[in-house]
Amino acid sequence: MTRVAVIAGDGIGPEVVGATMRLLGMMDLGLEFVEAPMGLECFKRTGEYLPRETLRVLEGSKAALFGAITSPVAPDPSYSSPLLELRRRFDLYANVRPCFPLLPELRVTDLNAVIVRENTEGMYTGREREEDGSVVLERVVSERGCRRIVEKAVKVTKAMGLSKVTCVHKANVLRRSDGLFRRVFYEVMEGTGLEADDMLVDAAAAALISQPKRFQCIVTLNLYGDILSDEAAALTGGLGMAPSANLGAHFGLFEPVHGSAPDIAGKGIANPCATILSACLMLTFLRRMDAAARLQAALVQTLTEGERTRDLGGSLGTWEFADRVAERLVR
Ligand code: IPM
Ligand code: MG
Repeated sequence: MTRVAVIAGDGIGPEVVGATMRLLGMMDLGLEFVEAPMGLECFKRTGEYLPRETLRVLEGSKAALFGAITSPVAPDPSYSSPLLELRRRFDLYANVRPCFPLLPELRVTDLNAVIVRENTEGMYTGREREEDGSVVLERVVSERGCRRIVEKAVKVTKAMGLSKVTCVHKANVLRRSDGLFRRVFYEVMEGTGLEADDMLVDAAAAALISQPKRFQCIVTLNLYGDILSDEAAALTGGLGMAPSANLGAHFGLFEPVHGSAPDIAGKGIANPCATILSACLMLTFLRRMDAAARLQAALVQTLTEGERTRDLGGSLGTWEFADRVAERLVR
């Protein structure tokens, strides 16, 4: 049976993942779900952020559903985020973040786009060293990395029935590295039949607000994608609604764009929508298309009928909200 690892993690992670698992558990998916602990709570219990046993579970899995993890407040320099470790170890080179408003009244601008973010290199190499009173970071942009992320963006664009890809970079300053990304972008786009253009990242940050309709698919480097995807989430319904897929060649890790939100953790008020939508992306990845559509339809129906958590102006707690979605799932 296809195995799926369940990484609840820290903060609101166990709540939003728990609510999502209640829904997945009601569906006949032919999937085996296995818990895989990781993160700060796991460290407090076992002395490890990313236990070997968790890696073993992940290696035997086709996908993982991930909640959130908390990085320690005053991290020692040797701390490295287990999430980034997983992205590197499983070569999850593409982070696909759909930015479509599920509820028209929550959107700030008319943005309907998908961000395809390079997920393993750029500013995220973790290679920092002290040198003559400075800290030097090695930022890596490789031709192979650029090629495969643009190829992924092309695939995603076609699969979603879109027609345009915009390369977002900073090649006016980072002339060689981002220049390489821009050059490879136009090479790959040649002959795809898709429209291609490019934009500087600062201008793109403004244009997401002032000219949202000019974007369909954005392909970009790691840190730009991290920042722009939070912006795009805020513009289309808030972080509570934004899902993502970390994809490698054979494995996918699906997570809400939001973090562990320690301030509201354990209160039962977190909005599980982003995790439920991430589960929908996961079901599509696992070729459970009907199940993905059913779950998303039940979620949309719940929300449009006014059943919402507090961040969306409603009064439901995490579990009550999940129950309302569950009622519509069995109808
Ligand atoms: C994200 C998060 C992560 C990132 C953090 C938690 C390391 O912000 O998935 O967007 O920076 O990629
Ligand atoms: Mg982020």
